[in-house]
Amino acid sequence: MIGLDLGTTGARAVLADISGKIHAVHETPYELQTPQPGWAEQSPDAWEAAAFDAMASVASRAPRPGDVRAIGLTGQMHGLTLLDARRRPLRDAILWCDLRTGPQRRELERSLGIPALIQYTGNLPLEGLQAPKVVWVREHEPHLLERTAYILLPKDFIRLRLSDDCWTDVSDASGTGYFDSAARRWSSEMLDFLEIEQSWLPEVEESPREAGRLTSGAADRLGLPAGIPIAAGAGDQPAGAVAAGIVAEGDAAVTIGTSGVVFAAARAYAAAPDGRVQVGAHAVPERWYLMGVTQAAGLSLRWLRDTLLPGRHYSALVAEAEHSPPGARGLLWLPYLQGERTPHLDVNARGALVGLTTAHRRSDVVRAVLEGVAFSLRDAAQSIQGVGASVNRFKLAGGGARSLIWRQIVADVFDAPLRIEPEGRGPAFGAARLGAVAAGEFASVDEAVSATAVSHTTVSPNAASAGSLAAAYDRYRDLYPALAKVNRSAAAAQAAVNADA
Ligand code: XUL
Repeated sequence: MIGLDLGTTGARAVLADISGKIHAVHETPYELQTPQPGWAEQSPDAWEAAAFDAMASVASRAPRPGDVRAIGLTGQMHGLTLLDARRRPLRDAILWCDLRTGPQRRELERSLGIPALIQYTGNLPLEGLQAPKVVWVREHEPHLLERTAYILLPKDFIRLRLSDDCWTDVSDASGTGYFDSAARRWSSEMLDFLEIEQSWLPEVEESPREAGRLTSGAADRLGLPAGIPIAAGAGDQPAGAVAAGIVAEGDAAVTIGTSGVVFAAARAYAAAPDGRVQVGAHAVPERWYLMGVTQAAGLSLRWLRDTLLPGRHYSALVAEAEHSPPGARGLLWLPYLQGERTPHLDVNARGALVGLTTAHRRSDVVRAVLEGVAFSLRDAAQSIQGVGASVNRFKLAGGGARSLIWRQIVADVFDAPLRIEPEGRGPAFGAARLGAVAAGEFASVDEAVSATAVSHTTVSPNAASAGSLAAAYDRYRDLYPALAKVNRSAAAAQAAVNADA
């Protein structure tokens, strides 16, 4: 199976066999354009070139090219790709991390109302999603919307080039802002309101089902057999969850990358009435997901390193935390360097280091940062539990999972054992698993996950540290409301300075 992850920095392909062994990995990078501050765009043609390059590279490393049985697709979620009637891109895609649509989001929330938005889609029309982007294009580039014949999510543009078909999957569709994730179909109410023609949108399929077959033209470019099935696939978060085996209620992945994500699988659909937890149809039929995001997880550590300790290697930096006790001698870090999604949904939230005295050393600052990120992940997990999903088995993934001390801090803050995900089994591997089900190698995603499972290291909480950290977490919870007033006026003052500049 080949799994393709159309990421934000590049296209990553893996070649995996049905035992779960990864035989080849190849990543081909591409550029991110920022035509204006806060904007983020990419060329779909550059995606296509990189995706074909990465897939051809791993295909050439199959024992025999004819052995490749299926392709599974995943990628960055939420991005808007507009195509004309000849299926050519009308403009560069507007990405999930593009922030131009604040006014459009606010206007949608005002005109439709938050209860209706949650009822129709389960989510708020956050800046990153397709819904406010379509409104932005209508307001700023109406000539393009007049010529629009298709709207696709990023990975589904690659599917079009592979199969000549327009399809998406339920989990990625859940991130558009106009998909009814409870019923697993487009929301007719939202399409009517946004004046989006149903004919512009792809057919929706469950993630492990076939959605397109490789054309002979694409097969020639890749050195693969024509006609092999392409799984509908999933957005990168749900595909990463399939890779980590987060498929049954009770299971959650805690990922420390640049941002931090808590992703839980749920047996039944539920949404947060205020939208502070993102919800969607999972990449497993008849299951859903709940997701809480903290914006600056690994980014907190990177900021500390780049700003105050340049040149220091991460492992040396993190090791300093060993010299500080749990609770960092009363020092607290609020990781809101980029505002915060869960639980505050506040772009004006700000970071803080609180409680400093002359007694504090660098080791305390490093430890406070690691602990503050763990506290924000616990907030995300609690927000998910607040929606009604039971979560009691955690896996830790991402770059942060490689650090022995950070693992222990998260286990202590969660006061729960953590299973550590091995490196390398990311979203592309999850997409390959979905491909294996589409090809009929496994009867279900559950079967694919259990047949290709690996053993995990487990980190158990330390009772004494968990006690000190529980007290520190209570103080951490008080910080955001305590600082809200001063941060609001600081953000307003900064906005005024930026406007003058
Ligand atoms: C999910 C999200 C990111 C993007 C880019 O909501 O915003 O995971 O999919 O990776």
